[in-house]
Amino acid sequence: MSVAWLEQRSVYYLVSLASLVLALVLSMSWQWPGAPSQPSRMRLFMHDVLTGPGATAVGVVNGTGPVLIGGEPPLRFGQVVMIDDPLTEGPSPASTPLGSAQGFYAFASMHGPAVLLCMNVVLTAGPYSGSTLTVVGRDNFVAPLRELSVVGGTGRFRMATGYVLWRTSSWEMQKNAVLELDVFVYVHAHA
Ligand SMILES: *[C@@H]1O[C@H](CO)[C@@H](O)[C@H](O)[C@H]1NC(C)=O
Repeated sequence: MSVAWLEQRSVYYLVSLASLVLALVLSMSWQWPGAPSQPSRMRLFMHDVLTGPGATAVGVVNGTGPVLIGGEPPLRFGQVVMIDDPLTEGPSPASTPLGSAQGFYAFASMHGPAVLLCMNVVLTAGPYSGSTLTVVGRDNFVAPLRELSVVGGTGRFRMATGYVLWRTSSWEMQKNAVLELDVFVYVHAHA
């Protein structure tokens, strides 16, 4: 082995090492333009009040399909409920108001209690006051944990994407429910 060959080889290794370090540094500090940033996280409690003078959820279509939940009247496939449910900071309806959840849910599963939920989260207090999020997804409300999608938003949440981890905090059958929403929202840097 000649000395020149050895030198050539070590230069080659040095250049490879330098490129590797450069690639690592770049991958850590550089993002694709428009790539989602860290998610904003919000915890909201939603009060779905079906009974009493202060009802915020109203059945607008009675389902005509198979009975999903017995009762008087029974709950059938196709039932649609419009909502304008208050959102608060804690599980008590008397806790700090943060906005409202406006939309509907429809019993969309022939063989179980899963609904298609479609709503706008209208924030009127807190750091995102004036902004909205649009949430759509499947809510199998007897499951302990559900996941719904954030498909868009306005204001601070323009072009947002994300997800909502959805749990039932308390529930009386066909009456009132309190839902706990753990919201993860990604906004795009160039939106
Ligand atoms: C649904 O059925 C119940 C019970 O029969 C009735 O009280 C209610 O008015 C009906 N709602 C609609 C939207 O038709």
